[in-house]
Amino acid sequence: MMKRTDKLVRPNVLKLVPYSCARDEYEGSDGIFLDANESPYGPLNRYPDPRQCELREAIGRHKGIPAGNIFLGNGSDEIIDLCFRIFCNPGKDRAMIFTPTYGMYGVAASVNDIGIVRIPLDDTFNIDLQAAKPWLKEDTLKLVFICSPNNPTGNCMNPETVETIISEFNGIVVIDEAYADFSGKPSFAERVGEFDNLIVMQTFSKAMGLAAARVGMAFADADLLRYFFAMKPPYNISTINQEAALLRLSEADTVARHVQSIITEREQLALRLTALPMVEKVWPSDSNFLLVRIKDADYIYNTLAERKIVVRNRSREIPGCIRITTGTPEENEKLISELERISV
Ligand SMILES: Cc1ncc(COP(=O)(O)O)c(C=O)c1O
Repeated sequence: MMKRTDKLVRPNVLKLVPYSCARDEYEGSDGIFLDANESPYGPLNRYPDPRQCELREAIGRHKGIPAGNIFLGNGSDEIIDLCFRIFCNPGKDRAMIFTPTYGMYGVAASVNDIGIVRIPLDDTFNIDLQAAKPWLKEDTLKLVFICSPNNPTGNCMNPETVETIISEFNGIVVIDEAYADFSGKPSFAERVGEFDNLIVMQTFSKAMGLAAARVGMAFADADLLRYFFAMKPPYNISTINQEAALLRLSEADTVARHVQSIITEREQLALRLTALPMVEKVWPSDSNFLLVRIKDADYIYNTLAERKIVVRNRSREIPGCIRITTGTPEENEKLISELERISV
């Protein structure tokens, strides 16, 4: 029987017969493998597990979420792109974002010829529900992206507002929790069983310290995830990257220690920045970075870059603002001492 979320899926995707790869047809790792035209020689001669079973099971144990509710992408960026390709008809449908926010939603929308409804965040960088509400009834609106904690503002969105949007919208709500481990606030990932139209994304790129491996996670209703498995390239996560993620999960204590020290350093850095005369405002952060309004942001950005300290200039989106990632204590110290030497 068709679920309400099936009706949101593009007709070509509903009809899609996924590529069946050799390894889909034989389960087990023992045997003589003459099925996939691999070389019998070489250190990485076998294709990766296309469904990443071991890694999804391990993530499931770590997060307390069944493996059937987990999909893995080549970074969250692949999952964002898949959302557009599964649910949005090019040239016709639209997605909503709350700005300023992570740039890839807009880029993936453009790549897929999907219109974007931009709702500016309010003065406290929260969702303006009244501005969003009329759009939630539009048939052509298929996706709402909520980045929480939001990049580049650093704050979590009000959970009641998020819940209202999930309940009132008939399309798909994607909550991007790339920075959730730094917030200490409850994740919506635990609630995917409650809402058939909710997709929660997390990533190995931030708290887990594995940005180079490109492993993004989506948690959602298992029926909804069927479309993601059908659409993805069969071997979207390499064996090396699956193993790196498995290893990192086995180092949970180390990761937790790193997260705690990043949070401590973030608060320390916020205090040090606030004390600088050029700094006008440092916003509270639920993430691993700080949004800072500073005198002559362009000049500061360029001068720091000349001194080989790279921060992110966000002044086009938020006047006067730069975004600073929390580094090691030594890196943060160097940043502060360079800022102390710049006069504006
Ligand atoms: C909000 C947000 N989501 C997703 C990503 C990208 O995640 P991944 O490395 O898993 O593609 C970023 C990276 O900066 C981000 O800020």
